Amino acid sequence: MARKGKGRVLVTGVAGFIGSHMAEGLLERGYGVVGIDNLSTGEARNVPKGVRFVKGDVTRDADLARAFAGGLDGVFHIAGCASTIRSFDDPEADLRTNTLGTIRVVMRCVKARVPRLLYASSMTAYGFVDRLPVRAERAATRPVSYYGISKYAAERYALATGERTDLGFGFGVTAFRMFNVYGRRQSLTNPYQGVASIFIGNIQRREPVRIFGDGEQSRDFVHVSDVVDAWIRAFERPAARGRVFNLGSGRSVSINELVRTDIAAFGLDPKTYPIEHHPARPGDQRHMRADIGPARRVLGWRPRVPFRRGMADVIAWAREEAAAAARPRPKRRG
Ligand SMILES: NC(=O)c1ccc[n+]([C@@H]2O[C@H](COP(=O)([O-])OP(=O)(O)OC[C@H]3O[C@@H](n4cnc5c(N)ncnc54)[C@H](O)[C@@H]3O)[C@@H](O)[C@H]2O)c1
Repeated sequence: MARKGKGRVLVTGVAGFIGSHMAEGLLERGYGVVGIDNLSTGEARNVPKGVRFVKGDVTRDADLARAFAGGLDGVFHIAGCASTIRSFDDPEADLRTNTLGTIRVVMRCVKARVPRLLYASSMTAYGFVDRLPVRAERAATRPVSYYGISKYAAERYALATGERTDLGFGFGVTAFRMFNVYGRRQSLTNPYQGVASIFIGNIQRREPVRIFGDGEQSRDFVHVSDVVDAWIRAFERPAARGRVFNLGSGRSVSINELVRTDIAAFGLDPKTYPIEHHPARPGDQRHMRADIGPARRVLGWRPRVPFRRGMADVIAWAREEAAAAARPRPKRRG
């Protein structure tokens, strides 16, 4: 197998939203990429060309052995059950995928002496915060959703393993508490995925938009290309070892504002568009905004995609997808 000049990285969850962008970013920067995914929420068509793809489950050691074969310089562990609501419906599945899956990946890294592991943690690790912006490595972590608990436990397994002095090799772990990541390829139909894409999918199909709670809760949206940039910078910087970084934009947007922006971007009137209000859901944090100072200083990183431009790009993509789906498929011969 070809080993590219810069090194070889395994991306777990490579067929998903963030994983597929990450693989693309690594390939563009000259890394060789192996990817593993069980295609539970991801789609095979998302896996970029040039990735050695292993269809497998991160909770299964035999599948991981296939993905680790040939040696790795790093693992970007992104596979996960990415839904707070689903974690309440099926806590065991959430725990198995997010926590047990991460333990298996971490232990494989140790066994194979992979020097670097980067982990996709979540802002849900914080729970309800009393001070904004929230600071990683300072703020209390009291997750209030089962998802937040399983992601935070996994983060601790990864970082605590990186701190072990008995391993006999330098194992550098970095975790990212990502806020609301958005961009192309985030599902427009899966009601469990990112809120921005859910609304865009609804509006494109002219369905009512459903807001849980009063809509004044706020979120910090960060474009997936900025997330990819931060991860690869961290991978390349020794100072990022053993650290946990927030990845957000440092700005927050209320859900009501997000809905109005999306409706207007489709050329529709936010005052007359059908909006349904439902009671708030369990585990819904109220206000969130990231302190991204440490990521700026240690990684030399800054988010580059402004919210409105990023959203306009997702809407353009959603339109392309709808047009492609509406085109008649060419008939097969024979
Ligand atoms: N999207 C966000 O805003 C956000 C924010 C914070 C953290 N995260 C974390 O980032 C990761 C990716 O999220 P996403 O938004 O790209 O979701 P996604 O559902 O698009 O991607 C997750 C991928 O993991 C795969 N997967 C799930 N279970 C697996 C298993 N047992 N073995 C192998 N593959 C498996 C899925 O098929 C999917 O392709 C998740 O771990 C999520 O918790 C996401």
